Amino acid sequence: MIQRIGIVTLLVLSCLDVFSQRAQRFFPKEDLLITGTYYYPEHWDESQWERDLKQIKALGFEFVHYAEFAWAQMEPSEGVYDFAWLDRAVEIAARNGLKVIMCTSTATPPVWLVRKYPEVLIEHENGTHTDHGARQHPSVSGTFYREYSLKMIEKLAQHYAHDKRIIGWQLDNEPRPNRDYGQDAQQRFRIWVKNKYQTIDALNRAWGTVFWSQVYGSFDEINIPRFAQMFMNAHQILDYNRFSTEEMSSFLDEQAKTIRRQVGTDQWITTNYIPDYDDGHLRQSQELDFHSYTRYMVYGENRGIGRKGYRLGHVERIAKANDFFRTIDGVYGVMELQPGQVNWGRINPQPLPGAVRLWLWHVFAGGSQFVCTYRYRQPIVGTELYHYGIVGSDGVTPTPGGLEYAKFIQEIKTLRKEYAPKATPPAAYEHRRTAILYNHENAWEIGRNRQTTEWDTEKHIDKYYDALKNFNAPVDFIDEHTDFSNYPVMIAPAYEMVDEALVKRWKTYVEQGGNLLLTCRTGHKNRNGQLFEAPFAEPIHSLIGAKIDFYDLLLPQTPDLIAFEGQKYPWTSWGEILIPDKGTETWATYLGDFYEGQPAVTFRKLGKGTVTYVGVDSQTGQLEKSVLKKVYAQLNIPLLDLPAGLHIEYRDGFGIAVNYADKTYTLPISGNVKYLVGGKEIPTAGVSVWKN
Ligand code: GAL
Repeated sequence: MIQRIGIVTLLVLSCLDVFSQRAQRFFPKEDLLITGTYYYPEHWDESQWERDLKQIKALGFEFVHYAEFAWAQMEPSEGVYDFAWLDRAVEIAARNGLKVIMCTSTATPPVWLVRKYPEVLIEHENGTHTDHGARQHPSVSGTFYREYSLKMIEKLAQHYAHDKRIIGWQLDNEPRPNRDYGQDAQQRFRIWVKNKYQTIDALNRAWGTVFWSQVYGSFDEINIPRFAQMFMNAHQILDYNRFSTEEMSSFLDEQAKTIRRQVGTDQWITTNYIPDYDDGHLRQSQELDFHSYTRYMVYGENRGIGRKGYRLGHVERIAKANDFFRTIDGVYGVMELQPGQVNWGRINPQPLPGAVRLWLWHVFAGGSQFVCTYRYRQPIVGTELYHYGIVGSDGVTPTPGGLEYAKFIQEIKTLRKEYAPKATPPAAYEHRRTAILYNHENAWEIGRNRQTTEWDTEKHIDKYYDALKNFNAPVDFIDEHTDFSNYPVMIAPAYEMVDEALVKRWKTYVEQGGNLLLTCRTGHKNRNGQLFEAPFAEPIHSLIGAKIDFYDLLLPQTPDLIAFEGQKYPWTSWGEILIPDKGTETWATYLGDFYEGQPAVTFRKLGKGTVTYVGVDSQTGQLEKSVLKKVYAQLNIPLLDLPAGLHIEYRDGFGIAVNYADKTYTLPISGNVKYLVGGKEIPTAGVSVWKN
């Protein structure tokens, strides 16, 4: 079995390798990163296009992004296509030395299509339907909608096939799991569960339908679960979540195949995901050349460091997206990055002067191949009137964010001259490389059985992630397809759903020298979201060298403490009381309740590696940080201790520091480094770049 897993892993790895090389060839290394902007020619009088594109070029941009929501202009009536206007816009871009990203516009079908075929609209759970007049109103579960979209995409792709002015394609816009209660969706869900379970008995077992008389006699009786109805079957919901993410990803895959049939492999294909990690669809599409994300940092949330930290946003928002998307294909892009004030937050403040440039450098630091901004001109009609662009509502005056883009682009162009292809990141940084194993399905499942309002899965993971970034450890978010042995340390936080094969892989990883850190709530459920007919979390007991006696949850007003190496750390949300086997060390214990003195954190050696089990979720993340420090100390991996908000990364022979904190810091970089941007002192919103 282990051997078989090994072979499968190797195959997956070699495919990934080929895949990432395939994607890398679209982006010459010496360009480092290219910068572009959304431009909607259809929004403006044609007489202004030349002026606008000239200025886009003058500001330093290298590509434009076209036709994202322009289906009505491309197919003004059924079967009648008009690409002449788009040809003129592409031609003006090319004349001004700008490449083009082309889009498929499936988020906005034209009104004639909706009126003639109203079944393309989404049916909500309460029976109401979406209508024309906004966007994202069609359902990708509609068989007709899929077919019709692909017809339009085929025409567009045929038109721009082998056109060197087009560098790549963005599919749809910010795709999300498809939620639709229409007839086609219901039918497709029935087919999906039938393919998965083959027999209705197997489905009944997987969904535990003996409970509350839910038993089904045939697949025709299955419906999409109702979320508004209390106590809906949780296993059915788990499958529905899987189905609805696959609905979107298979639609994207069909689009990608349609385009590739026409354009071959000269133009890349991606889409612009929102980094909502627990949405689940981010890693699902198989046909994309690579994945891209969109990011908005300032929209009135009280986040960030200091009294007005909301003007910069939280350092994690870009850092984590970088570390998540880069590891999917080895290549990634940022399709939308905020240029200034937005219109859709609860409160929409101005970003701090310097913030836009800070974000751009942060994207660069993560390894991105391109960054594109939403959008060039501030709209003066439509839904997004108060949304800033690179230029303001007069169409010509650069906004403060627009000028920061221009500055960043100039800085990157200077950096290109310093590019040294053979440079490698500092060995000390590479030694700290750590994997966080992530599967969105755990977040779904825990979300349904939270057991306490004190628990937050994303915050739990962030406690480890933040500590790693403070240590200046490069982090890769990986999934179960990855070869674990690439990483000396791997953290699998709150990994609730497991199977025998995964636990075996973890064991092999450790026996061969890996250092695994598992945290509370791991190993409770099988992949159907059912508890094991065994003691709690029994599948991981022999791996962690401990049993889980019981777990406790505290009220917010009465936190208790964990004792670890002479320090005390408060907790409320989740604490597992552990019974270590002989030979397993107790690292931390509970204080203050009937289980005072019992273990909360354990550690053991296994084969050539180690397993640390953190059975508790602390309030502040300081316990998690201290435990991690001890793990790395045992491995003789020296760490930095960067202040919150200061991140340092390395790529292509450059060190990059970004400061989201409300103070100036001195960079802990020793030796005589050559600073290309900024210097050793890094102020709030500051950026320093040096040759390493
Ligand atoms: C994004 C979306 C864009 C635009 C932008 C405004 O989420 O993809 O099309 O609406 O928000 O900030």
